[in-house]
Amino acid sequence: MDPNRVLIFDTTLRDGEQSPGASLNESEKLQIAHALSRLGVDVIEAGFPYSSQGDFNAVKQIATEVHGPIICGLARASEADIEKAAESLMPALKRRIHTFIGSSDIHLEHKLKLTRSQCIEKAIKAVRLARSFTDDVEFSPEDAGRADPIFLFELIQAAIEAGATTINIPDTVGYITPYEFGGLIKSIKENVPNIDKAIISVHCHNDLGLAVSNSFAAVLNGARQIECTINGLGERAGNCALEEIVMILKTRQKTFGLFTEINTTEIARTSHLVSNLTGFPVQKNKAIVGANAFAHESGIHQDGVLKHKNTYEIIDPSEVGYKTNRLPLGPRSGKHALKSRLAELGYALDALELDAAYIRFKDLADKRKQVSDKDLISIVDEKQREASTEVFYTLEHLQIACGSGLPTASVEIKNLKRDVLLRTSSLGTGPVDAIYQAIKELVDIQNELIEFSVHSVTEGIDAQGEVTIRVKYQNKIYTGYAADTDILVASAKAYLNAINKLCAYLEAVPEPVKEIIHEKI
Ligand code: KIV
Ligand code: ZN
Repeated sequence: MDPNRVLIFDTTLRDGEQSPGASLNESEKLQIAHALSRLGVDVIEAGFPYSSQGDFNAVKQIATEVHGPIICGLARASEADIEKAAESLMPALKRRIHTFIGSSDIHLEHKLKLTRSQCIEKAIKAVRLARSFTDDVEFSPEDAGRADPIFLFELIQAAIEAGATTINIPDTVGYITPYEFGGLIKSIKENVPNIDKAIISVHCHNDLGLAVSNSFAAVLNGARQIECTINGLGERAGNCALEEIVMILKTRQKTFGLFTEINTTEIARTSHLVSNLTGFPVQKNKAIVGANAFAHESGIHQDGVLKHKNTYEIIDPSEVGYKTNRLPLGPRSGKHALKSRLAELGYALDALELDAAYIRFKDLADKRKQVSDKDLISIVDEKQREASTEVFYTLEHLQIACGSGLPTASVEIKNLKRDVLLRTSSLGTGPVDAIYQAIKELVDIQNELIEFSVHSVTEGIDAQGEVTIRVKYQNKIYTGYAADTDILVASAKAYLNAINKLCAYLEAVPEPVKEIIHEKI
């Protein structure tokens, strides 16, 4: 490998999925894994197979269907975890087992109740067992950022002797600062005698907002793999954001000489997909993928950019996949124009998918007159999302009465499994609450709405509104998403999207409770 190449290890599907409320179903995970493969990541950490049957199945499916990147499964330093990871990864062409154990005294004393030598023994056993299943084994001394460096050197040396080929240094609690972290990586290189037999990786959390800076400091000091997630998702405040660290290395390659093999033009699309599927909107001013990342507001800046882009722009938006200055499609655009614009955006649809997207496109074009690239991405992503969720209920009609009186929603939905229409009206504290009450009554599942957010896909009063909803049922959270020019319609569809996921999980639809209009449609 070129000594200046930095490997990108994506953990969106493992650490990213640990973001509270970001749970994904198996087919959503598969969609993201395909997107990561198009993006060109070197490793996909697809999950933690021992943690649940769902995670096991998702890792196995990704290992079977996604080729290109190495597929990795996480395992604690225990026999059962490692065997489960190995089993789920079996179909992969290139597989990695990532095993970890706490290394700071806080973890050893309070969490694991192990002495330092017991910890080393367990790590050696785990790495040896993992090596019996694959030649590609990663070892992480968890909470390395707070561990005693002398013990850390000893632990790393033992793990490499046992067969670890990647040593990952996690700042598990996001405590360390860039200067210290760069120094730690340097000292590992200087003090672990067999370190040349392994690649040094880093895994930084963002509790102090330093995950990207720490990862950058680490590669400047010899690390050659960065663990990161799309949009910086992850446990608590998240992990190092893939799009940020990759664009730092690309934009400053002349200065620092480091590079990745990421196809950066896939960044915007992947970010959008992950945001929609997890229900975590990207903040407007987020670096690289935020809606304002390439917007120039002040007159002086606009004037400068018009005269010469470089005056205020360090990255050409097209480098990360934003196409600019293109004519939007409109009501008179045909299917062929839609197909070729989607192809330019990286979507290859089959005939049936194109027909479905065209219907949705025409509907939007009739209302908006101009359909932007962002609208098109939203349409296709929504279609793909629908395809990845088993549909139990669809929205047929929605009528809202609101104002200063009593907000009322009349809702008609179709139960596709029983082929019946259900209709009711409900009052609410506002129109969205009235919709929610009506649908809840019709599906008769005692879920709790815990989050509701709306934001617009593009600018303008006629823009599509994207609604993300989270509902809780028996301590499990289900995310729903939908987009429409009418935000109340989007709200109803987003709620049904969450309910469909819940029903898929329950694998049974409760008997309808409300008036059945037609027994058979
Ligand atoms: O943050 C952490 O320490 C982890 C490890 C499992 C690598 O996620
Ligand atoms: Zn982590």
